[in-house]
Amino acid sequence: MTRSFLRDDDLTPAEQAEVLALAAQMKAHPYDTKPLAGPRTVAMIFDKPTLRTQASFAAGIAELGGHPMLVDGTLAGIGKRESVADVARVLGRQASQIVWRTFAQASLEEMASYAGVPVVNALTDDFHPCQLLADLLTIREHKGELAGLTAAFLGDGACNMGNSWLLAGATAGMHVRVSGPDGYVPGEDMFARAREIGAETGGSGTAVADPHEAVAGADVVITDTWVSMGKEDEASARRAVFGPWSVTAELVAAAKPDAIVLHCLPAYRGMEIAAEVIDGPQSVVWDEAENRRHAQKAILSWLEDQRS
Ligand code: NVA
Repeated sequence: MTRSFLRDDDLTPAEQAEVLALAAQMKAHPYDTKPLAGPRTVAMIFDKPTLRTQASFAAGIAELGGHPMLVDGTLAGIGKRESVADVARVLGRQASQIVWRTFAQASLEEMASYAGVPVVNALTDDFHPCQLLADLLTIREHKGELAGLTAAFLGDGACNMGNSWLLAGATAGMHVRVSGPDGYVPGEDMFARAREIGAETGGSGTAVADPHEAVAGADVVITDTWVSMGKEDEASARRAVFGPWSVTAELVAAAKPDAIVLHCLPAYRGMEIAAEVIDGPQSVVWDEAENRRHAQKAILSWLEDQRS
């Protein structure tokens, strides 16, 4: 069966654990596993800006023995010059897998339904599941376990990262608290899904309005830009309300003394995170950025396995 990775809960709890274990193994032995030997081509398409995602997928695909093929989303004009379905059918004949960063989750789902090869979400407006695999890998490395840990996500909870944290965190058996200003928390459907997953894993997903309360006793503190890609027009309105959710040293002090701080980057120091926090001893953001490569190698390899 052809499996895709379009949102965090496409992996069951057992599958997520398997992919994270594979990622740790690949990190320890980066050049030992070559499931894309041939080389097989993986198409990468970016309709939004990228640094880490393009670099880590390109490096990771090469390490897996494959060939990363960059398809210029602007030139291709997906959904404008050609329909998503036609692009999917064409790329599916050239590439073993398709990695796509785009706006609408529905477009990604359409790509997956026509491609005939695995499609991987490299960020949409709604989810950023590859980032979450990297985040969970990073937490596993620093804390040794995931189940039972408490994570506090602060800031724009309504963005892709807030949604993905609820789903992936609950899948890992973590307790995820999301805290943001009114109107910037995930939709009720996301909390409902986290509850459903949590019933199986022991994890949970809750909204906590007060940022200090959200961080109190947490093992992991996470934030993300207040102005996600595509929301640039709302920058000043957002900056006017997000101040209390800025991850300052004072806020981090409310978490456990050995809490770690994550940020998927790019970071805006002095806005969603203080420079002394992101550049301080509790920050693990560079491990997190590196782990994109290991985590993505694992999901690509795991999806390749599902086809055989
Ligand atoms: N929420 C951010 C994540 C960046 C990796 C965005 O969508 O721009």
